[in-house]
Amino acid sequence: GKTVKLAVIGGDGIGPEVTAEALKVLRAATPEVTWDTTDYDLGARRYHATGETLPDTVLEEIRGHDAILLGAVGDPSVPSGVLERGLLLRLRFELDHYVNLRPVRLYPGVASPLAKGTPETIDMVVVREGTEGPYTGAGGVMRRGTPQEIATQESYNTYFGVERVARYAFEQAANRPRRKLTLVHKNNVLTYAGDLWVRTVNGLAPEFPSVTVEYQHVDAASMFFVTQPERFDVIVTDNLFGDIITDLGAAIAGGIGLAASGNINPAGTFPSMFEPVHGSAPDIAGQSKADPTAAILSAALLLSHLGYTAEAGQIEQAVADDVSERGGRSARTTGEIGDDVAKRVAG
Ligand code: NAD
Ligand code: IPM
Ligand code: MN
Repeated sequence: GKTVKLAVIGGDGIGPEVTAEALKVLRAATPEVTWDTTDYDLGARRYHATGETLPDTVLEEIRGHDAILLGAVGDPSVPSGVLERGLLLRLRFELDHYVNLRPVRLYPGVASPLAKGTPETIDMVVVREGTEGPYTGAGGVMRRGTPQEIATQESYNTYFGVERVARYAFEQAANRPRRKLTLVHKNNVLTYAGDLWVRTVNGLAPEFPSVTVEYQHVDAASMFFVTQPERFDVIVTDNLFGDIITDLGAAIAGGIGLAASGNINPAGTFPSMFEPVHGSAPDIAGQSKADPTAAILSAALLLSHLGYTAEAGQIEQAVADDVSERGGRSARTTGEIGDDVAKRVAG
């Protein structure tokens, strides 16, 4: 069999708990693969011990892997943004994860809070830009702590950055049955950035004649997620809008415990990174209450990225079977859900 070098970053809170289950299922689904894993101790513990978030030497080591599995980052004991920026966003930026791929699918048997929510009406994929927009950290503060305080937070949008993520989204749309791409932005207010996004998407459209292109403002899109989710097939959007609408997407598709994502470097220059959409959930950390399904489905995205499409499909099927039987079941621990899904993929 093949050997895959996998960097594992459990991170903070429930991150390590759900990552352990994802690894369990990953291994069960791929008996022919040797997973050469390296565990990285990054997150709040290391920050408190050494002051480091992601040392350069560690980043360079991580670059040498085939893929990364990440749990979650962020802890109440660390000032907000230190780990999020210094670890998670630094990985996304340094490894050029310009596609943040976030499927929003209602699995059969899972209850959606939407009256009209069915596996047919909730089946979209959000292609969130991952390296630009308001996430670069550009900006600053003047006269901090005074009544004259001024805080700026700039959004960076380059033609290069928008074109490559839009092209990826068109390619996804062209390969899905409904062949529809919705650009979600706010070009009625963010006129400079919105104009760049609209012109770039429209400029690519002739290369993808089979794809229907639609534009929607992010506020209206949020409403339609709830009232008419069937409007959406592939969505392409800015980094921040994509962050927000994918938590909403998770909610309509059965909850944040099920939502998976991939931070993808499509050219394969650097390893791609797979992680649940949710965070470190400090409110339930250490209690074995976290649902590992989002992490498990992220492992399936990892497999599919590495070309193990059949094995990825087995995990998705195992999850689908598991979630559809949940109704009649008593509550399970994080580990029990992982065991149950692992058993299904192995058997
Ligand atoms: P969160 O996603 O951690 O939690 C929101 C709510 O969802 C909480 O009530 C939590 O208990 C619940 N929840 C989340 N995942 C769950 C799971 N797998 N099973 C069951 N319930 C689950 O978001 P937050 O509270 O806004 O953020 C907490 C910390 O996580 C912050 O430090 C934030 O910056 C960080 N964060 C990190 C990531 C990431 O690493 N990708 C993503 C989002 C937030
Ligand atoms: C996510 C998270 C991150 C983001 C934070 C923790 C930086 O919310 O992965 O959705 O905003 O991208
Ligand atoms: Mn988020």
